[in-house]
Amino acid sequence: MNRRYRKTIIAGNWKMNKTLSETRAFAEELKPLLGRPKWCEVVLCAPFVNLQAATRLFKDSRVSIAAENCHYESSGAYTGEVSAEMLKELGVKYVIIGHSERRQYYNETDFTVNKKVKAALEAGLRPIICVGESLEQRELGVTLELISYQVKCALAGVPAEKMRHVVFAYEPIWAIGTGKTATSAEAQEVCEHIRTIIRKLYGARVARSVTVQYGGSMNPKNAQELLAQPDIDGGLIGGASLKADQFVEIVNAANQD
Ligand code: 13P
Repeated sequence: MNRRYRKTIIAGNWKMNKTLSETRAFAEELKPLLGRPKWCEVVLCAPFVNLQAATRLFKDSRVSIAAENCHYESSGAYTGEVSAEMLKELGVKYVIIGHSERRQYYNETDFTVNKKVKAALEAGLRPIICVGESLEQRELGVTLELISYQVKCALAGVPAEKMRHVVFAYEPIWAIGTGKTATSAEAQEVCEHIRTIIRKLYGARVARSVTVQYGGSMNPKNAQELLAQPDIDGGLIGGASLKADQFVEIVNAANQD
């Protein structure tokens, strides 16, 4: 973390979990536990159908609500899709773009990721752009090249003045939902690399202001060590965000004086 230059963001990605009633119960449990985090922003990424309720439930709290995906067009004949404008009107603040599960199961490509990033920014949402390598790619030694490619594609055509709204999440695919976390050194290396690419594209001032999260089996036990790395500015947390007490422990790890 480097709180001097950029925001620390702890985000829970619920994926396809929690019904409306479970969302309500979670909010009731979380709010008293959370208090008023001083140093970090707390974000919950919920399924589309629960977003409206979630924005209301967390209205007077410091928790911001995020969607887990959006379409790249603002409206039109795209049955079953949801646009960034629609999300914005609900009070949603962030949107995850290019999560590896969407790349893997729904043919999300670096090209569609780029279109979605621009659509989100255009609508006034903050994209949380996910990048990360597979185990095979790591073993081949191409992780940093792949990350450079993903970051450059995602940002193609994004002007410098929009960069203060952009968040990156480094999520090694082999660490997602596996209980296998990247070591803090591995995570730091890639998060630092993401910042280096941003520096080459936009200069040092922009690069040092962008929040870069780590995601992949982050939990109350490993959060503190990961967050102590200079280029890891928060977490994108799957499994451990489904339990309010575990999620709060991670927020507390980011919130120490
Ligand atoms: P887990 O924390 O369950 O590994 O999931 C990480 C993730 O994919 C967050 O987007």
